[in-house]
Order: sequence, then C-alpha cells, then structure tokens
Amino acid sequence: MKTGLGAGVLMALFAVADVTQAADAEAGRSIADRWCAACHVTSDSKADSRAVSGTDAAPTLSSIARDPNRSPNWLRQWLSSPHPPMPDLNLSRAETDDVIAYLQGMSR
Ligand code: HEC
Repeated sequence: MKTGLGAGVLMALFAVADVTQAADAEAGRSIADRWCAACHVTSDSKADSRAVSGTDAAPTLSSIARDPNRSPNWLRQWLSSPHPPMPDLNLSRAETDDVIAYLQGMSR
C-alpha cells in the first residue's frame, strides 16, 4: 500500500508542475524575435526569405526545430549553458521553456 500512496503523491506533484510550467509559445516568439533574430532567422513561414535578419553562421530556428535530434531536453541544455559564438543569453527557466514551446510549434 505504501508504494501506491507514493505514486499518488508523485502524480499530484507532476500535475502541479504541469500547471506552473505551462510554456507560452507566443511569449517564446517575442523572446526569439528580440534575442535570437540578430543571428538566427526566426521566421517559420518564410524560413528562407532573405528579408528576415540572421547570419549564415547560425542555423535557422525552424531548421533547428525540425531536427529530430534537437529534443526539448537537448534545447534546454543548450540554452542553459554558454555556447560560443552564441552569447550567454541568461534566459530564465520560464523564458527557456517559452522559446522551446515556440520551436516545438514550428516543427509541426
Ligand atoms: C550573437 C549571435 C547569436 C544569438 C543572439 C543567438 N544565437 Fe543561437 N547560435 C549562434 C551560432 C553562431 C550558432 C552555431 C554554433 C555552432 O554551430 O557551434 C548557434 C547555435 C544555436 C543552436 C544549436 C543549433 C544546432 O542544431 O546545433 C540553438 C538551439 C540556438 N543557437 C538557439 C538560439 C536561441 C533560442 C537564441 C535566442 C534565445 C539564440 N540561439 C541566440 C548564434 C547566436
């Protein structure tokens, strides 16, 4: 019976975590426009349009989003530690989750 109770408590914790960590893809888009667009092409609809900003050194965000090796966990790791030449963006956990939600939305 002890294990059953433990599982119940765990489930409750996950339910709470789910609510508090609800990521916002729209917020992620504005973060990306502000903080990533200087180097990454962010637009999903016109992924290869030269009208959008970005440099050739950085892959477009939509190509990152579509890469099956770039899982949300991988992205979280990437964004939570500095990766020269990418600057340390110092995103909060919530901002990171928002950006990841935005990327997830692009890959569909
Ligand atoms: C100052 C320029 C710059 C900014 C700003 C920047 N990046 Fe990057 N980013 C790069 C470069 C250059 C690379 C390629 C690094 C490499 O290949 O080693 C990169 C690589 C990445 C990668 C890994 C791509 C892969 O598949 O290997 C991810 C994910 C990424 N950036 C996400 C972001 C996000 C999200 C933001 C905004 C929050 C951002 N970057 C802001 C320059 C930048």
